[in-house]
Amino acid sequence: MSAHPTRIGWFSAGDVECDPPPPARDHPYRLVLLGPPGVGKGTQALLLSEHLRACHLSTGDLFRAAKCQCAPSPAMQAAIDVMNRGELVREDLVIQMVRERSKCIQCHGGFLLDGFPRNVHQAEALSALLDELRVTLDAVVSYELPLDEIVARLSGRRTCSECRAVYHVTSQPPSHPDRCDHCGAALVQRDDDRPEAIRVRMQTYESETQPLTDYYSRSGKLLRVPAHGAPREICRRMLAALHALDVPARVKP
Ligand code: AP5
Repeated sequence: MSAHPTRIGWFSAGDVECDPPPPARDHPYRLVLLGPPGVGKGTQALLLSEHLRACHLSTGDLFRAAKCQCAPSPAMQAAIDVMNRGELVREDLVIQMVRERSKCIQCHGGFLLDGFPRNVHQAEALSALLDELRVTLDAVVSYELPLDEIVARLSGRRTCSECRAVYHVTSQPPSHPDRCDHCGAALVQRDDDRPEAIRVRMQTYESETQPLTDYYSRSGKLLRVPAHGAPREICRRMLAALHALDVPARVKP
Protein backbone atom coordinates (compact mmCIF):
# COMPACT_ATOMS: atom_id res chain seq x y z
CA MET A 1 0.00 0.00 0.00
CA SER A 2 1.38 3.43 -0.89
CA ALA A 3 1.41 6.32 1.58
CA HIS A 4 -1.11 9.11 1.32
CA PRO A 5 -0.22 11.95 -1.00
CA THR A 6 0.74 14.95 1.12
CA ARG A 7 -2.66 16.71 0.86
CA ILE A 8 -1.01 19.93 2.00
CA GLY A 9 -3.86 22.12 0.73
CA TRP A 10 -6.37 20.17 2.84
CA PHE A 11 -4.29 20.19 6.01
CA SER A 12 -3.23 23.82 5.75
CA ALA A 13 -6.34 25.57 4.35
CA GLY A 14 -5.84 29.23 3.40
CA ASP A 15 -3.77 29.87 0.31
CA VAL A 16 -1.31 26.99 0.65
CA GLU A 17 -1.13 25.09 -2.64
CA CYS A 18 -0.44 21.37 -3.06
CA ASP A 19 3.04 20.60 -4.33
CA PRO A 20 3.11 19.05 -6.86
CA PRO A 21 -0.29 20.39 -7.99
CA PRO A 22 -2.86 17.75 -8.99
CA PRO A 23 -2.85 17.02 -12.74
CA ALA A 24 -5.68 18.83 -14.55
CA ARG A 25 -8.33 16.59 -16.09
CA ASP A 26 -11.52 17.25 -18.00
CA HIS A 27 -13.76 15.26 -15.68
CA PRO A 28 -12.46 15.02 -12.11
CA TYR A 29 -14.21 12.53 -9.81
CA ARG A 30 -16.15 14.02 -6.91
CA LEU A 31 -17.39 11.43 -4.46
CA VAL A 32 -18.64 11.25 -0.86
CA LEU A 33 -17.70 8.11 1.11
CA LEU A 34 -20.20 7.01 3.79
CA GLY A 35 -20.19 4.07 6.18
CA PRO A 36 -19.84 3.15 9.84
CA PRO A 37 -16.64 3.81 11.80
CA GLY A 38 -14.04 1.19 10.87
CA VAL A 39 -15.80 -0.15 7.77
CA GLY A 40 -12.70 0.76 5.75
CA LYS A 41 -13.43 4.18 4.21
CA GLY A 42 -9.88 5.46 4.72
CA THR A 43 -8.39 2.24 3.32
CA GLN A 44 -10.65 2.45 0.27
CA ALA A 45 -9.95 6.16 -0.21
CA LEU A 46 -6.26 5.37 -0.53
CA LEU A 47 -6.92 2.72 -3.21
CA LEU A 48 -9.49 4.86 -5.01
CA SER A 49 -7.10 7.80 -5.13
CA GLU A 50 -4.67 5.54 -7.03
CA HIS A 51 -7.36 4.63 -9.58
CA LEU A 52 -9.29 7.88 -9.86
CA ARG A 53 -6.43 10.30 -9.04
CA ALA A 54 -8.80 12.24 -6.76
CA CYS A 55 -7.64 13.58 -3.39
CA HIS A 56 -8.70 12.01 -0.05
CA LEU A 57 -10.33 14.76 2.02
CA SER A 58 -10.94 13.40 5.54
CA THR A 59 -12.35 15.59 8.32
CA GLY A 60 -11.21 13.03 10.93
CA ASP A 61 -7.63 13.36 9.63
CA LEU A 62 -7.87 17.15 10.11
CA PHE A 63 -8.69 16.71 13.81
CA ARG A 64 -6.00 14.07 14.27
CA ALA A 65 -3.44 16.39 12.60
CA ALA A 66 -4.46 19.22 14.96
CA LYS A 67 -3.91 16.82 17.88
CA CYS A 68 -0.23 16.56 16.88
CA GLN A 69 0.28 20.34 17.03
CA CYS A 70 2.03 21.48 20.18
CA ALA A 71 -0.51 24.24 20.92
CA PRO A 72 -3.93 23.66 19.33
CA SER A 73 -6.41 26.54 19.78
CA PRO A 74 -8.91 26.19 22.70
CA ALA A 75 -11.71 25.47 20.17
CA MET A 76 -9.62 22.78 18.51
CA GLN A 77 -8.60 21.25 21.87
CA ALA A 78 -12.30 21.03 22.79
CA ALA A 79 -12.96 19.30 19.44
CA ILE A 80 -10.15 16.81 20.08
CA ASP A 81 -11.57 15.95 23.53
CA VAL A 82 -15.00 15.37 21.96
CA MET A 83 -13.47 13.16 19.26
CA ASN A 84 -11.61 11.05 21.83
CA ARG A 85 -14.94 10.30 23.53
CA GLY A 86 -16.38 9.14 20.19
CA GLU A 87 -18.92 11.97 19.89
CA LEU A 88 -19.38 14.31 16.96
CA VAL A 89 -17.46 17.57 16.92
CA ARG A 90 -19.48 20.83 17.03
CA GLU A 91 -21.29 21.31 13.77
CA ASP A 92 -20.37 24.97 13.14
CA LEU A 93 -16.65 24.19 13.59
CA VAL A 94 -16.72 21.29 11.09
CA ILE A 95 -18.69 23.23 8.49
CA GLN A 96 -16.35 26.21 8.88
CA MET A 97 -13.31 23.93 8.45
CA VAL A 98 -14.69 22.52 5.20
CA ARG A 99 -15.66 25.98 3.92
CA GLU A 100 -12.12 27.23 4.62
CA ARG A 101 -10.96 24.46 2.27
CA SER A 102 -13.29 25.33 -0.61
CA LYS A 103 -10.33 25.29 -2.98
CA CYS A 104 -10.02 21.52 -2.35
CA ILE A 105 -13.70 21.09 -3.24
CA GLN A 106 -13.15 23.07 -6.45
CA CYS A 107 -9.83 21.40 -7.23
CA HIS A 108 -9.57 20.17 -10.81
CA GLY A 109 -8.11 16.91 -9.47
CA GLY A 110 -11.46 15.97 -7.82
CA PHE A 111 -12.05 14.67 -4.29
CA LEU A 112 -13.06 11.72 -2.11
CA LEU A 113 -14.83 13.34 0.84
CA ASP A 114 -14.57 11.06 3.91
CA GLY A 115 -16.27 11.87 7.25
CA PHE A 116 -18.26 14.83 5.95
CA PRO A 117 -21.22 15.09 5.81
CA ARG A 118 -22.10 13.15 8.95
CA ASN A 119 -25.73 14.13 9.39
CA VAL A 120 -28.53 15.70 7.38
CA HIS A 121 -27.70 19.24 8.53
CA GLN A 122 -24.09 18.84 7.31
CA ALA A 123 -25.38 17.33 4.05
CA GLU A 124 -27.50 20.44 3.50
CA ALA A 125 -24.48 22.65 4.27
CA LEU A 126 -22.42 20.67 1.73
CA SER A 127 -25.14 20.96 -0.87
CA ALA A 128 -25.24 24.76 -0.39
CA LEU A 129 -21.44 24.96 -0.68
CA LEU A 130 -21.39 22.83 -3.85
CA ASP A 131 -24.08 25.07 -5.39
CA GLU A 132 -22.05 28.18 -4.52
CA LEU A 133 -18.91 26.67 -6.04
CA ARG A 134 -20.81 25.25 -9.05
CA VAL A 135 -19.53 21.77 -8.35
CA THR A 136 -21.57 18.56 -8.78
CA LEU A 137 -21.17 15.26 -6.93
CA ASP A 138 -20.77 12.16 -9.11
CA ALA A 139 -21.85 9.65 -6.45
CA VAL A 140 -22.22 8.93 -2.74
CA VAL A 141 -20.74 5.56 -1.80
CA SER A 142 -22.16 3.71 1.20
CA TYR A 143 -19.90 0.87 2.44
CA GLU A 144 -21.83 -1.84 4.31
CA LEU A 145 -20.60 -4.60 6.65
CA PRO A 146 -22.00 -6.57 9.65
CA LEU A 147 -21.23 -5.06 13.07
CA ASP A 148 -19.02 -7.91 14.37
CA GLU A 149 -16.65 -7.57 11.39
CA ILE A 150 -16.51 -3.79 11.88
CA VAL A 151 -15.58 -4.13 15.55
CA ALA A 152 -12.81 -6.62 14.63
CA ARG A 153 -11.41 -4.12 12.09
CA LEU A 154 -11.51 -1.24 14.59
CA SER A 155 -9.98 -3.06 17.53
CA GLY A 156 -7.02 -4.30 15.45
CA ARG A 157 -6.29 -0.98 13.73
CA ARG A 158 -2.89 0.67 14.13
CA THR A 159 -2.10 4.09 12.64
CA CYS A 160 1.24 5.72 11.87
CA SER A 161 1.89 8.58 14.28
CA GLU A 162 3.63 10.58 11.51
CA CYS A 163 2.19 9.88 8.02
CA ARG A 164 -1.20 8.47 9.16
CA ALA A 165 -0.89 5.25 7.10
CA VAL A 166 -3.35 2.64 8.40
CA TYR A 167 -2.58 -1.02 9.31
CA HIS A 168 -4.35 -3.92 10.96
CA VAL A 169 -2.61 -6.29 13.35
CA THR A 170 -3.79 -9.38 11.44
CA SER A 171 -5.26 -8.40 8.05
CA GLN A 172 -2.76 -5.66 7.07
CA PRO A 173 0.23 -6.03 9.41
CA PRO A 174 3.35 -3.85 8.99
CA SER A 175 6.60 -5.60 7.96
CA HIS A 176 8.17 -4.76 11.36
CA PRO A 177 5.99 -4.82 14.48
CA ASP A 178 4.79 -1.36 15.55
CA ARG A 179 6.81 0.49 12.83
CA CYS A 180 5.38 2.19 9.75
CA ASP A 181 6.51 0.63 6.44
CA HIS A 182 6.49 4.04 4.75
CA CYS A 183 8.28 6.34 7.18
CA GLY A 184 9.49 4.11 10.04
CA ALA A 185 7.59 6.07 12.72
CA ALA A 186 5.81 4.36 15.63
CA LEU A 187 2.37 2.84 15.06
CA VAL A 188 -0.26 3.77 17.65
CA GLN A 189 -3.81 2.82 18.55
CA ARG A 190 -6.26 5.70 18.11
CA ASP A 191 -7.76 7.06 21.36
CA ASP A 192 -11.26 6.64 19.92
CA ASP A 193 -10.63 2.93 19.19
CA ARG A 194 -11.03 2.10 22.91
CA PRO A 195 -14.15 -0.09 23.53
CA GLU A 196 -16.17 2.63 25.30
CA ALA A 197 -15.47 5.19 22.54
CA ILE A 198 -16.28 2.59 19.83
CA ARG A 199 -19.71 2.06 21.47
CA VAL A 200 -20.44 5.81 21.41
CA ARG A 201 -19.27 6.11 17.77
CA MET A 202 -21.54 3.26 16.65
CA GLN A 203 -24.57 4.79 18.43
CA THR A 204 -23.80 8.19 16.95
CA TYR A 205 -23.46 6.64 13.50
CA GLU A 206 -26.85 4.93 13.75
CA SER A 207 -28.72 8.00 14.97
CA GLU A 208 -26.95 10.74 12.98
CA THR A 209 -25.22 9.35 9.90
CA GLN A 210 -27.24 6.33 8.76
CA PRO A 211 -30.24 8.55 7.79
CA LEU A 212 -27.95 10.04 5.12
CA THR A 213 -28.37 6.93 2.96
CA ASP A 214 -32.10 7.76 2.60
CA TYR A 215 -31.23 11.41 2.01
CA TYR A 216 -28.84 10.57 -0.84
CA SER A 217 -30.85 7.68 -2.31
CA ARG A 218 -33.46 10.27 -3.28
CA SER A 219 -30.86 11.94 -5.51
CA GLY A 220 -30.23 8.68 -7.43
CA LYS A 221 -26.50 8.96 -6.68
CA LEU A 222 -26.25 6.47 -3.82
CA LEU A 223 -24.03 3.43 -4.45
CA ARG A 224 -24.35 0.67 -1.83
CA VAL A 225 -21.12 -1.33 -1.78
CA PRO A 226 -20.69 -4.51 0.33
CA ALA A 227 -17.42 -4.05 2.26
CA HIS A 228 -16.51 -7.72 2.90
CA GLY A 229 -13.39 -9.27 1.40
CA ALA A 230 -9.91 -7.94 0.72
CA PRO A 231 -9.45 -4.17 0.24
CA ARG A 232 -8.58 -4.46 -3.50
CA GLU A 233 -11.60 -6.70 -4.09
CA ILE A 234 -13.87 -4.08 -2.47
CA CYS A 235 -12.24 -1.36 -4.56
CA ARG A 236 -12.94 -3.31 -7.79
CA ARG A 237 -16.56 -3.82 -6.66
CA MET A 238 -16.93 -0.10 -6.07
CA LEU A 239 -15.42 0.86 -9.44
CA ALA A 240 -17.80 -1.58 -11.18
CA ALA A 241 -20.75 0.04 -9.36
CA LEU A 242 -19.51 3.50 -10.36
CA HIS A 243 -19.25 2.37 -13.96
CA ALA A 244 -22.78 0.92 -13.83
CA LEU A 245 -24.08 4.24 -12.50
CA ASP A 246 -22.92 5.63 -15.83
CA VAL A 247 -20.73 8.28 -14.38
CA PRO A 248 -19.30 9.44 -17.73
CA ALA A 249 -17.16 6.59 -19.06
CA ARG A 250 -14.00 7.62 -17.27
CA VAL A 251 -13.33 4.49 -15.31
CA LYS A 252 -13.10 0.79 -16.06
CA PRO A 253 -13.41 -1.65 -13.14
P1 AP5 B 1 -13.26 9.68 11.17
O1 AP5 B 1 -11.80 9.75 11.07
O2 AP5 B 1 -14.09 10.11 10.02
O3 AP5 B 1 -13.58 8.21 11.67
P2 AP5 B 1 -14.71 7.15 11.34
O4 AP5 B 1 -15.83 7.56 10.44
O5 AP5 B 1 -15.09 6.69 12.69
O6 AP5 B 1 -13.96 6.14 10.47
P3 AP5 B 1 -12.61 5.47 10.81
O7 AP5 B 1 -11.49 6.36 10.41
O8 AP5 B 1 -12.63 4.98 12.24
O9 AP5 B 1 -12.69 4.14 9.95
P4 AP5 B 1 -12.59 3.88 8.38
O10 AP5 B 1 -13.95 3.54 7.86
O11 AP5 B 1 -11.84 4.97 7.68
O12 AP5 B 1 -11.74 2.52 8.44
P5 AP5 B 1 -10.19 2.23 8.10
O13 AP5 B 1 -9.95 2.32 6.63
O14 AP5 B 1 -9.29 2.99 9.02
O15 AP5 B 1 -13.78 10.57 12.42
C1 AP5 B 1 -13.21 10.47 13.70
C2 AP5 B 1 -13.91 11.45 14.62
O16 AP5 B 1 -13.69 12.80 14.15
C3 AP5 B 1 -15.42 11.33 14.74
O17 AP5 B 1 -15.82 10.32 15.67
C4 AP5 B 1 -15.80 12.74 15.21
O18 AP5 B 1 -15.53 12.93 16.58
C5 AP5 B 1 -14.85 13.61 14.42
N1 AP5 B 1 -15.44 14.02 13.12
C6 AP5 B 1 -14.95 13.75 11.89
N2 AP5 B 1 -15.75 14.27 10.93
C7 AP5 B 1 -16.76 14.90 11.59
C8 AP5 B 1 -17.92 15.60 11.15
N3 AP5 B 1 -18.19 15.77 9.83
N4 AP5 B 1 -18.77 16.09 12.09
C9 AP5 B 1 -18.52 15.94 13.41
N5 AP5 B 1 -17.45 15.27 13.89
C10 AP5 B 1 -16.57 14.74 12.99
O19 AP5 B 1 -10.15 0.67 8.47
C11 AP5 B 1 -10.34 0.23 9.81
C12 AP5 B 1 -9.41 -0.97 10.07
O20 AP5 B 1 -9.83 -2.07 9.26
C13 AP5 B 1 -7.93 -0.73 9.72
O21 AP5 B 1 -7.12 -1.39 10.66
C14 AP5 B 1 -7.76 -1.39 8.33
O22 AP5 B 1 -6.44 -1.85 8.12
C15 AP5 B 1 -8.77 -2.54 8.43
N6 AP5 B 1 -9.37 -2.88 7.14
C16 AP5 B 1 -9.82 -2.01 6.19
N7 AP5 B 1 -10.34 -2.68 5.15
C17 AP5 B 1 -10.23 -4.00 5.45
C18 AP5 B 1 -10.60 -5.20 4.77
N8 AP5 B 1 -11.20 -5.15 3.58
N9 AP5 B 1 -10.37 -6.39 5.37
C19 AP5 B 1 -9.78 -6.45 6.59
N10 AP5 B 1 -9.37 -5.35 7.29
C20 AP5 B 1 -9.61 -4.13 6.72
